[in-house]
Amino acid sequence: MQRILVTGGAGYIGSHTVVELQSAGFEVVIVDNLSNSSVDVVDGITRITGIRPAFEKLDCLDYEGLGKLLTKYSGIAAIIHFAASKAVGESVQRPLLYYRNNLVSLINLLELMPKHGVENFVFSSSCTVYGQPDALPVTERAPRKPAESPYGNTKQICEDIVSDTVRSGAKVKSILLRYFNPIGAHPSAEIGELPLGVPQNLIPFVTQTAAGIRPKLSVFGSDYSTPDGSCIRDYINVVDLAKAHVVAAQRMLTGKSKSAVETFNLGTGRGVSVLEVVNAFEKVTGVKLNYEVVGRRAGDIEQIWADPSYANTELGWQAKENIEDTLASAWKWQQKLTKSGK
Ligand code: UD1
Repeated sequence: MQRILVTGGAGYIGSHTVVELQSAGFEVVIVDNLSNSSVDVVDGITRITGIRPAFEKLDCLDYEGLGKLLTKYSGIAAIIHFAASKAVGESVQRPLLYYRNNLVSLINLLELMPKHGVENFVFSSSCTVYGQPDALPVTERAPRKPAESPYGNTKQICEDIVSDTVRSGAKVKSILLRYFNPIGAHPSAEIGELPLGVPQNLIPFVTQTAAGIRPKLSVFGSDYSTPDGSCIRDYINVVDLAKAHVVAAQRMLTGKSKSAVETFNLGTGRGVSVLEVVNAFEKVTGVKLNYEVVGRRAGDIEQIWADPSYANTELGWQAKENIEDTLASAWKWQQKLTKSGK
């Protein structure tokens, strides 16, 4: 059985990926500092798959600790690196925290990999690297735009750090995965997104408003050059997204990569506006959402959606779930959280 190290494996996308890796027959070791997650997530994963992944509470900033971990769990076939800070607004307030967390964690892993014979690395990147693209849908060949936030900048710099390391001749291969907007939860509602405090992202805010935790959803902006005036994004089901990581790891492990660093867009190829999300949520759940259209949010991109055809053909992967079922899964998860008082 091949062993995969998943940093940030107790987090939102990480936990869903651990489930898919285990279901595909991989042995998983999770490393997570639990700064934005809970160890209960490991129980949720175990209930879904029937297999308890190894769990190590550790910060990827801890070089020595990571080295010991790689000695303890020898023979790691690939690392999937999710562990990072990801709140755009917070990154503007606390840039050094973001640069330290996101850059140093990555550098630590890349330095340790050759020392422990780990050759394959999957990196969590974001469509934020494209800024507002000149042409839509956006392909991997679109130029990266100057980042709007320190968070976005860390994703660009991290992509460069990975590419430079691979090109330096280090015995490391990598796949950079650029996520569009991951939403939803595992259909079992055993795992999902666990935002701490007031959610910044749209879907947790929507589900918390529907649950009565927040009085009202603000729809940011109605004067964009889009059909209904609200922003457009490519919302991708988190389980679909998780499955792409399994395929990416398998691609490297079976020697199918076409170059030592490959980049893939992970999206559905469909753009959906904020107001369309609100309407679809109301329709699928039967819950009326209290919302108000307000002014624009600083730093928002007007519209972006993926051209996922390169991932579709090269990885043989495709996002399958529709937005209605995905929103229903987010609602089921929220109802479970509400019931358990979280
Ligand atoms: C942002 C980042 C993305 C990052 C993600 C994770 C950019 C351009 N994008 O995505 O890289 O990975 O956060 O945190 O930096 N909205 C509302 N009301 C709300 C919340 C959101 O109307 O209460 C709208 C936003 O204006 C936006 C859409 O919903 O149009 C999606 O917002 P959000 O879920 O925050 O994701 P992004 O900003 O697209």
